[in-house]
Amino acid sequence: MRLDKYLCELGIGSRSDVKKLISKGRVKINGNIVKDAGAKLSEESDKVSVDDRELSYVRFEYYMLNKPKGYVSASKADLRNKDEKCVIDLIDTKIRKDLFPAGRLDKDTEGLLLITNDGALSHRLLSPKHHVDKTYYVELSDKLSEQNAETIMKGVDIGDEKPTMPCTIERLDDNSCNIVIQEGRYHQVKRMFETQGLTVTYLKRLKMGSLVLDERLKLGEYRRLSEEELEELKNL
Ligand code: URA
Repeated sequence: MRLDKYLCELGIGSRSDVKKLISKGRVKINGNIVKDAGAKLSEESDKVSVDDRELSYVRFEYYMLNKPKGYVSASKADLRNKDEKCVIDLIDTKIRKDLFPAGRLDKDTEGLLLITNDGALSHRLLSPKHHVDKTYYVELSDKLSEQNAETIMKGVDIGDEKPTMPCTIERLDDNSCNIVIQEGRYHQVKRMFETQGLTVTYLKRLKMGSLVLDERLKLGEYRRLSEEELEELKNL
């Protein structure tokens, strides 16, 4: 990999920032100053340092975040309104600068969000073709009748080309339930309940495939996925 790309990927700075660092002689490969931004290095075996601080190269990062309300599921660069708060800003131990949320939660939705830079894994989890279950806890403005739940479970017309795929609902009390869906359309859960005249007043994602929200994480807190969690997700 080129030296400037390597430094950019680790969030050291923009292409032009890192080129300046390199030309000033502040970057070393295996202890030797390198002033060529296009110098080639091996991520596995070469040691790179900036101002004599050695960097550690990480190809992929995986974090579980308990998303709080008020945060947009995007990275700063993707925000249309730069004054908004984005979920990536909550990950302050990140090494990579190319992290993104694997799947969006609405600004007012809480709960499980996987933050990664692994595009292939993200695609597998989100593509409706792969039928990965996503479980949400839902609170509603009005009573959810058995009939409402049954109608939604069969699939409903939410105004898209196709009705929603069959799903499951577990009623918890009159105004709350868990719903398991395999798609991830825009505002999908809210729109499904709207077809029955019900407004979602609170929404929290609890599960995505094998990944379960760690209830020890307070809103806004995150942790790295364990080896087992990652293995299971990859084997879905
Ligand atoms: N469905 C919604 O309506 N909103 C979300 O944030 C996630 C699923």
